[in-house]
Amino acid sequence: MKKISLVLVILLAFGAMAFAGGGQQGGGTGGASAAPLIGIAMPETTVLRWVKDGASLKAEAEKLGYRAELQNGNGDQVQQNQQIGNLLTQGAKLLVVGQLNDGVASAISDAARDKVAVIAYDRIIQNSADYDYYITFNNFKVGQLQGQGLVKAMNLDAATTAAPKYITYFAGSPTDGNAFFFFDGATSVLNPYIEKGVLKVVGPAPKDSKDTANFQRIATEGWLPNIAKNRMENLLTGDARSVTLDAVLAPNDTLARAIIEACLADAKYAQKLPVVSGQDAEAASLAMIKNGQQAMTVFKDTGKLAEAAIILADQILKGVANPVVPGAVLASSIGLESIGDTGKKVVKAYLLDPINITKDNWREPITAGFISADEVAANGLQ
Ligand code: BGC
Repeated sequence: MKKISLVLVILLAFGAMAFAGGGQQGGGTGGASAAPLIGIAMPETTVLRWVKDGASLKAEAEKLGYRAELQNGNGDQVQQNQQIGNLLTQGAKLLVVGQLNDGVASAISDAARDKVAVIAYDRIIQNSADYDYYITFNNFKVGQLQGQGLVKAMNLDAATTAAPKYITYFAGSPTDGNAFFFFDGATSVLNPYIEKGVLKVVGPAPKDSKDTANFQRIATEGWLPNIAKNRMENLLTGDARSVTLDAVLAPNDTLARAIIEACLADAKYAQKLPVVSGQDAEAASLAMIKNGQQAMTVFKDTGKLAEAAIILADQILKGVANPVVPGAVLASSIGLESIGDTGKKVVKAYLLDPINITKDNWREPITAGFISADEVAANGLQ
């Protein structure tokens, strides 16, 4: 009798422990302090989205019952690596990382050593074989939307070889794999017009990002707006001095606004700006799209990206072999496997869909709840 009750007590104790363990992951019953920790390492704050991305990731993780610790590398890979080291020391079970450059690979190999899974967030982690998952938008399509937006805004289909249109190129940071996809998507749309002779490129004119020397000349190290503004000023007094530019391929809104600022300071463009592309649906750029200064932007709902990343994280932590993320497609299923190529291995890449925004639908990011009421008010977007 005594023996049986002892066995019962032990069984009950184990049962209670297992219950508490299950509760930790599922959310709630195990107590917040015992829930697994998700480490979030964002790259920078110059481009507004990363502040929002970080906050959304933390909120989504906590919604599923995890603990979350958020860090931002402030544009410095050394700092980000230290932050990742700290997250590992704190016992993070999974990391969501938006990298700065391939110097992050050593921190990712430390995560692998500690058996901590890593999700590359928005930007691929290059030159690493130490992780398996990447979640982002269809970055080639982002570039296609930029190219198509410029074609339409220039009315390029009606242009002739006798009166060609003039464009100049800017690309994002050469340390960011996305910059290559954005550019290749855009030139895939623009190249046929160049071949027809109705579009001329002023300044360096790479056909695609594989033309490394020319790509470097149009790239914007660290996505820094001052670099783009200086380069635009130099172009206006240099390569573009004897033509009137019809368009500028700008890879994101922050750089688009810096480029537009440089144009506005030039008497030649003060009345009629070239058409300028963008990306990120930043409130300040939506205002400029509304008033006709910027031609278009690409809306990537980063709130949805953060939600999808945490749905993926949850499955990885629960040991699901082939995670499925609602609203995202596997790059391999649409022939874009190269989006997941780190240079050392091809990771599973999940892609969300970007949306084209022009004067006709500039309210869409607001309707979607992507722009806060404060941002709407501060930018006169009523
Ligand atoms: C992101 C863009 C962003 C850029 C600069 C890219 O990796 O995909 O949304 O504008 O970095 O931060």
